[in-house]
Amino acid sequence: MAEKEANTHVVLFPLPGQGHIGSMLKLAQLLSTAGFYVTFVHTERNYRRYLLTSTSFHVPKFRFRTIPDGFPDDDSRSPLPFLELQESLDTKCRGHYRELLVAVDDQEEWPPVTCVVADQALPLSLEVPDELGIPVMILAPHSACSILTSYSIPELIRGGELPIPDGANMDELLQGVLGLEGIVRRRDMSIRSAKSIQDPFLQFEVKMSKNLPRGRALILNTTESIDSLSLRHIRSICPTTYALGPFHVLLRNIKDESHSASLSEEDRSCIAWLDSKPNKSAVYVSFGSLAAMPREAFLEFQQGLLDSGYYFLWVIRPDMVEGGLEESELTASEQRYFVKWAPQEEVLAHPAVGCFLTHSGWNSTLESIFAGVPMICWPFFADQLINSRFASEVWKIALDMKDLCGRSHVERMVKEVMSGEKGEELRNSSCEMADRVKKSAEEGGSSYANFKELVGHIKSLSL
Ligand code: UDX
Repeated sequence: MAEKEANTHVVLFPLPGQGHIGSMLKLAQLLSTAGFYVTFVHTERNYRRYLLTSTSFHVPKFRFRTIPDGFPDDDSRSPLPFLELQESLDTKCRGHYRELLVAVDDQEEWPPVTCVVADQALPLSLEVPDELGIPVMILAPHSACSILTSYSIPELIRGGELPIPDGANMDELLQGVLGLEGIVRRRDMSIRSAKSIQDPFLQFEVKMSKNLPRGRALILNTTESIDSLSLRHIRSICPTTYALGPFHVLLRNIKDESHSASLSEEDRSCIAWLDSKPNKSAVYVSFGSLAAMPREAFLEFQQGLLDSGYYFLWVIRPDMVEGGLEESELTASEQRYFVKWAPQEEVLAHPAVGCFLTHSGWNSTLESIFAGVPMICWPFFADQLINSRFASEVWKIALDMKDLCGRSHVERMVKEVMSGEKGEELRNSSCEMADRVKKSAEEGGSSYANFKELVGHIKSLSL
């Protein structure tokens, strides 16, 4: 092996949440195929969960390292509140992370850190290596359209478009979103409920937007074939941007295997349930790892699904329904099947699945695109609001149910996608997009080529 690969050591540190860990771990596995040493940083709490669900992870020159998250072990809140988590990591764990980056590991003889891949949504992950003079690349594990929208927030504030004034028409288009002026409405903004510039989430977005161009390169889990418009504009801010998504597809093409990044145990019984159903007869419903809803909304939503008459497989995490549910409300039947966590990629690839009712998290969106399954989007927060807008208005592979989720609405949308003319159109566009995405991750495709360039860039940082 060439000298440079042999001495190149990359550290990756994701925001400690399922969606971020998932995409970062796939990127880490991709980088390890280049022969690099790879250290993946977990918080202690998440690493314990990961060990419970993962089967053996034996990748050469690959190790996990942990730092505390600053919360007591018996804090059972799940998920930990976002801003509290940021604050805790920032104040209590900075030193641990610094030590990890400068530690010389005599026993294992690992080379010093060449480069850190930081998570854009975790400012600490890029600030510490920056202070130490270690080159940083930034992974923004969201869609390019959502990154561009977040990046435009300071401009929207300057232009008086944010915070959104009381009583404003939420369907009106925003003018200050770089390159996406005719697409993004007030309703599609993640911080649409911020009432003042001091709103902590708005301030956090401003910080993230400043961090975006701070790395030597920006790495994105998307492809030119999905996000070319937004990528063009992102490159005007971050000229060295590598779009190499979907990571899970590229990884399969390059390595022919992928280790699960799941923090929860997958219930595979749902595959047998799907096996018993005809082709394209079932709706897969999942709202990712964080979204939660009031009990009334859950029951209303479920009634809409039941009224549609279609089979549905629904992922219901124990923390997903505020106030909890009665056992009887979760009884599986011929029409419905519930699991706490599903093998999602396998479910989406199953012939019985005709539609994905999703919260529009970016990983879920990419997985659905790859599987060619049309979506109904019920976004909850963050990038989900803009992903759902693009999925429906730009890519034409989904219906966006945003803000309208009464039972009759749910019933109508499910029927429309599962059997209507509109459903046929969405299915055709989904299949076409899946083909383009598959090609981009094959040898000769743009994601494949961008990955090779990224590897070359990282090697050039070695002494
Ligand atoms: C969060 C945000 O909500 C999302 O908007 C952002 O883009 C990333 O961080 P999350 O809610 O976890 O992510 O959604 P998503 O990005 O879709 O990731 C969920 C992951 O969990 C997917 O890879 C999905 O395959 C996996 N999953 C989900 C399972 O494996 N099984 C399940 O039952 C549900």
